[in-house]
Order: sequence, then structure tokens, then C-alpha cells
Amino acid sequence: MYITAIVLVIVNALMQLINPTISQLIVDKVLAPVDGNSRIDLLVPLVLLLIGFTLLRTSIGYLQLMSFEKSCTGFLANVRSYLYRNMQRQDMGFYDKNRTGDLMTRLTGDLDAVSHAVNWDVRITVEGIVLFTSVLIYFISIDPLLTLILCVILPFIFLCSFTYSRKVRPYYRGLREKLAVMNSRAQENIAGNRVVKAFAREDYEIGRFDTCNSDFSAANLKVNKYWLTFYPFIEFSAQALSIVVLLVGGIFVMKGRITLGQLLAFSSLTGLFARPVRLLGNILNDMQRFGASIEKVIELYYSRPMVVSRVDSTKKDCKVEGRITFDQVSLKLGGKEILHDITVDIKPGETIAIMGNTGSGKTMFVNLIPRLYDIASGSLCIDGVPIKEWDLPTLRRGIGMATQDVFLFSDTVDGNIAYGNSDMSEEDVKHYAEISAADFVERLDEGFNTLIGERGVGLSGGQKQRLALARALAIRPSILILDDTTSAVDMETEHFIQNSLNNLDFVCTKLIVAQRISTTKRADRIIVLKDGRITEIGTHEELMKKGGFYTDICVLQEAMGAEEENEGGED
Ligand SMILES: Nc1ncnc2c1ncn2[C@@H]1O[C@H](COP(=O)(O)OP(=O)(O)O)[C@@H](O)[C@H]1O
Ligand SMILES: [Mg+2]
Repeated sequence: MYITAIVLVIVNALMQLINPTISQLIVDKVLAPVDGNSRIDLLVPLVLLLIGFTLLRTSIGYLQLMSFEKSCTGFLANVRSYLYRNMQRQDMGFYDKNRTGDLMTRLTGDLDAVSHAVNWDVRITVEGIVLFTSVLIYFISIDPLLTLILCVILPFIFLCSFTYSRKVRPYYRGLREKLAVMNSRAQENIAGNRVVKAFAREDYEIGRFDTCNSDFSAANLKVNKYWLTFYPFIEFSAQALSIVVLLVGGIFVMKGRITLGQLLAFSSLTGLFARPVRLLGNILNDMQRFGASIEKVIELYYSRPMVVSRVDSTKKDCKVEGRITFDQVSLKLGGKEILHDITVDIKPGETIAIMGNTGSGKTMFVNLIPRLYDIASGSLCIDGVPIKEWDLPTLRRGIGMATQDVFLFSDTVDGNIAYGNSDMSEEDVKHYAEISAADFVERLDEGFNTLIGERGVGLSGGQKQRLALARALAIRPSILILDDTTSAVDMETEHFIQNSLNNLDFVCTKLIVAQRISTTKRADRIIVLKDGRITEIGTHEELMKKGGFYTDICVLQEAMGAEEENEGGED
């Protein structure tokens, strides 16, 4: 359809020559005949021809616009959908690196600039080239000398346009970057509105956004001002063409070199001749914007994740059993080694508690199991198979994870719990909510159909954590990872959750990152991490005997025990 549209543009442009030709005939044969003998009988057929061609050209113009819009809209939708799909396949490293606002800009503003280029700019360029060459040939066939005089002005216009486009290029990159920064700022502000309000920093945020906004406007203005310094020259030169035609053409008519009809044709075609030259600046302008945007779109289009299933992945469509074997594993992120020499063998059904100070690598340790990051050295096997040989979706479907910062979708409670499996029955959803101590759902106005997240009711931290737990459990995982999932629930609820986790009706290896001894005590083994290394590993009793970090924490918490039990409420 796009090619058809371009062909129609060419036909339409060529047809623009027909009407001036007919007008020339009307003048030369009927109105002001050169040989003094007026063919009045030709007037009506020529005028009818004029009307006929005008109608035809309008119809072709209509078809051409329709096909352009249709094909470009379709193209845009396809590219956007591809970009979105490609973005879904990216690994964690990609999301660590790219700002949300920047990615949003690629899917919206950048794509718009690209679509404008393939729609408007391509059309105008093709039309311009056809018009310019055909009119040029037409002019030469009438009077080469007059054509030559007209063409003397052209290099000047070209020069102006090219200088402009070369100088303005870096500004367009800056402009695009500033738009992305502004979008990121707005997105962050909306996402972090709680923090802003808590610190009463609204004015500060407004100020920060205003800076971005005025930076963007200033950059925009700069580009436009730049254009305006060139615009008068280009416009003046284009107008000068008409003056030259009237002046020189007039003299030529008086000298009898060309006819009045030919002058008329010349004069009406001068506008068409000058148009592409005049629009050259606009097109080059758009091309710069296009260049800045397409770079970003292509980057996303061809961006390939590092963490992918191998084509020869042996473990496809089977079930994870839950054995996890770390052997001298290390993890590097951004050139820094975060985990060192991790060795531990976890049996199916075992419960492992993970403790350690903040920043000790607990989250990163558990992130390795669903292969959110790839290990740098050593070996990590799930059910005895190296993790890279697992088909990613198969592996991840076997792992239920509740991340440290809970993210719930703006959907119903029901939809959130059944996120991992949309076909889940209502009873199942209720069952998993129950074992996750999410009984508060029953008390919400619309129960499981209550909308939560962005558009719906707000939930407390502890409530969100319990929904996240229900969501993780609902897929009946063989490996359950809870990263500080009960940190915001009260002791009593935590105890309840502990009990349900111990009595699950399926075999499940559990890795629980926790701070409270009451949780870790009941684990089969406890891993203590310090600066990315396992410093202690064993049962509660073993570690208590050892007298290390774990013992210290135990003693500390027991001393505070009585107090905490009284005041440790839900946040
Ligand atoms: N995306 C990341 N890129 C680079 N370093 C990271 C990233 N996320 C966390 N880190 C670093 O890894 C270390 C361990 O972090 P983490 O596992 O989150 O600790 P915690 O034990 O508190 O869960 C920290 O020093 C942190 O700065
Ligand atoms: Mg953490």
C-alpha cells in the first residue's frame, strides 16, 4: 500500500503540469492568438478538459492521502508492537540501565517523529523531486534561456538549506534528550508522590520540573530560532523566482521570444517549481528530528537481552523439582563483584532462611535462582542441570517469588493473585489468600473484586506483602522465594504465615530472606551473608553454638523480644 501511495504521489505530481498546459492553450489559441485568428470553438472543450483533469487529480490526491495514512498508521502500530514485545524480553540489566521516562519517550514521541518522516517527509520529497524535474524539463522545452536565469537563484537556496541542516543537527539530539529527561522526571514524581508529600517537597519538585520544562522549551526555541534565521533567505529567494519570471518573461513576450500563454504557464508553474526548494529546509529540519529519534528507536528495536534461553536448552516443558546447587558462584554487576564464592546445596522441600545486613547481597543471591542475572563464575544448577540449560519460562514458572519492594498491578485483588495463572478458579484464589493471611480482603468493599493499585484503594505495606505472597503461592511453585516478605506484618500474622508455609499441600523448596529470629529459627538451615559471602551456614542450634553474627542478632532480638511483641504492629 505504501508503494501504491508513492506511485500515486508521482502520478499526482505529474498531473500538476497538465492544467497550466491547457491554460496556455486557452490563452494562445483563444484569448490572445499569436496569429490573430481566434479559435473560439476550442474554448468549451478546453475548459471541460480543465475541469475533468482537476477532478481526476483531486481523486488521485484523495486516494494517495488515504493509502499513505493507512499504510503509515499500520506500519507505526506494527513497529510499536514489536518494540513493546522486544522490551518485554529484555533482562534485568536493561531495566537497571534505562530510565522509565526514556523508554516511554521511545514508544511515543520518538515513534511519532519516525512516523511523521515516513508519512509527510517521504511524500513531500518524492513529490518535490518529480515536480522539480518535470517542471524543469517543461521550462526548458518552452525557453531554455528563461529557465537558466531562474536556475541562477537556486544554488543560493540549496546552500541556505544545507548549512542550516548541518548546524542544527546537534541541537535536535539535545532536544530529544531533554524531552526524555522531562518525561522521566514527571514519571518519577508521580511514582514517588508519597515521598514528595511526606517531605513536603512539592515546591521543590515543581521547581525541578520547571527547570526541565524550560530547558526543553529553550532548546525547542533555539532550534526554531535557528530555522528563523535561515527562513527569510529561503523565502525571499523563492519569491524572487516569481519576480524574475514576470520581469524577464515580460520582456521576452514583448520581444516576441515567447507567447503570452507560455508566460502564463511559466508563471503558474513557478510556484510549483519553488515549492520543493522552499520545503527543503523543512524536510532537512524534520530529518534531524527523525535522526535523533530513529537512533533511539533502533537501539530498542535491536536491543537483545543477555539472559536468554539457549536454543538447545534441554529442560523444556518439564517441572522444576526444587534442588538448587551453588558451587563457588560469583556475580558481577557493572564491573563490581557483588557475590563471591557462594557454595551451598539446597535439597527439594528444604526451608532456608537468609540473613545478613542490608547490602550484604541477600536479594542478589535469591535473584540468581530465577536467572534474573547471570552468574560470572562457578556453577549454579537447578535439579542438577546448569541453569543456562533451562528454558527460561519453564524455569521461572516453577519459581514463586515475592520481591522486596512489592509491586501490584492496577487490577482487582483477584486479578493480582491469579497473575501467574489467569485460569485460576475463584476457590483457589481464596484458598491462597487464606494461607497468606490476606483475610483483610473479605473486609474490602468489593472483596476480591476491589480494584487496587493506581486506580483503586490503597493498601498498607503489610497487606500488599500478603497479596504478593498469595500471588507467589498461587502458581504452586517448586521453589518459593520470599525476600523480606513478612517484614511489614505483625508477629502474630507472621506466625500464621509460617505455619501455612510449613503445611503446604505441595513440595516446595523455600528461601526466606528474613530479619526476625522467630522466622529463621524454624528453617532447616540458615545462611548468613556478609559483603556477598556466606559467613555462617547451619541450623539454629549450630549457629547459636558458633557464636557469630547470628548469635549476636539472636541475643539482641531476645533482649528486645518482650517489647517488640507488644508494639510490633502492622505498618
Ligand atoms: N542493579 C544493581 N547493579 C549494581 N549493583 C547492585 C544492583 N543492585 C544491588 N547492587 C549492589 O549489590 C549489593 C547487594 O545488594 P542486595 O542484594 O540488594 O542487598 P540486600 O542484602 O540488602 O538485599 C549492594 O552493595 C548493592 O549496592
Ligand atoms: Mg534486599
